[in-house]
Amino acid sequence: MNRPRRNRRTPAIRAMVRETTLTPADFILPLFFHEDAQDTPIASMPGVTRWSLASLVKEAGEAHALGIPAVVLFPKIEESLKTPLAEESHNDTGLVPRAIRALKAAHPTLTVITDVALDPYNSEGHDGIVHRHATGALEILNDQTVAVLCHQALCHARAGADIVAPSDMMDGRVAAIREALDDEGFTAVSILSYTAKYASAFYGPFRGALDSAPKDGDKKTYQMDPANAREAIRETLLDEAEGADMLMVKPAGLYLDIIARVRETTTLPLAAYQVSGEYLMLKSAAAGGWLDEKAIVLESLTAIKRAGADMILTYYAKQACGWL
Ligand code: PBG
Repeated sequence: MNRPRRNRRTPAIRAMVRETTLTPADFILPLFFHEDAQDTPIASMPGVTRWSLASLVKEAGEAHALGIPAVVLFPKIEESLKTPLAEESHNDTGLVPRAIRALKAAHPTLTVITDVALDPYNSEGHDGIVHRHATGALEILNDQTVAVLCHQALCHARAGADIVAPSDMMDGRVAAIREALDDEGFTAVSILSYTAKYASAFYGPFRGALDSAPKDGDKKTYQMDPANAREAIRETLLDEAEGADMLMVKPAGLYLDIIARVRETTTLPLAAYQVSGEYLMLKSAAAGGWLDEKAIVLESLTAIKRAGADMILTYYAKQACGWL
């Protein structure tokens, strides 16, 4: 008789036949920071902090020492610097370029990934440039936005970023950024494209952390409809053709089918982003004493990797390293 339970009989046998193993090298740590000298706990994300520049460097160093290869940077930009055309997004002396330089100087082997999108910089809180029609309707301008994203990616590359990660979902931005980088000699800077980024309610706590929620309207004309899976394949094929080095699916935990389908479509490395709302759900269930935090976090991360993700962006990266 076939008895699959024989392969589950002891911890040693289970370890031998295990198909998916998490390691610190799988994780990318998202980090929030601001201009203030004070570190500020983020109310919408218990356990997550918005760091000063000095603390950001220290926190990234601790993560790297645990074996985490990379961080991704999310700045909170002062309200007075936000403009309709988001000029601050490509200011060479701005907060992000200074953070990149400080991180690379302190931790040369740490991989620094930057977010390329306009929402922290634009007075409308949208990932692109907003045009308001006479009717009052909002339009997020695609090609004008892509031009600014290219300036932003170049600004990050000049400061020493290893990987730029466009999270804006404008059409054609991967090809445009690749060309801009190559033209300026940054042929070694990689593009991690947010390929299938859904218009998800699970980004709520993140927007609270950065004060970056759209002032008006929503992001549904550029981020994907959560009801669509085939469309993720279309985005995958386009990003691959446009020259992306790595792809991403976001959110992660509720989109395992998308991770699996994108995995089958491309040979490129694939990342998945366990977003702020996923973090908050796990955190609050654990804080209530209802679920075992270590067990649910490791199970959720294992599921994301099992579905096909090579890399996982997670606010739990440091804690998970301690648990492995
Ligand atoms: C902005 C951006 C968002 C996230 C990463 N980059 C928010 C959004 O698109 O509204 C969300 C991350 C999270 O929720 O953890 N371009």
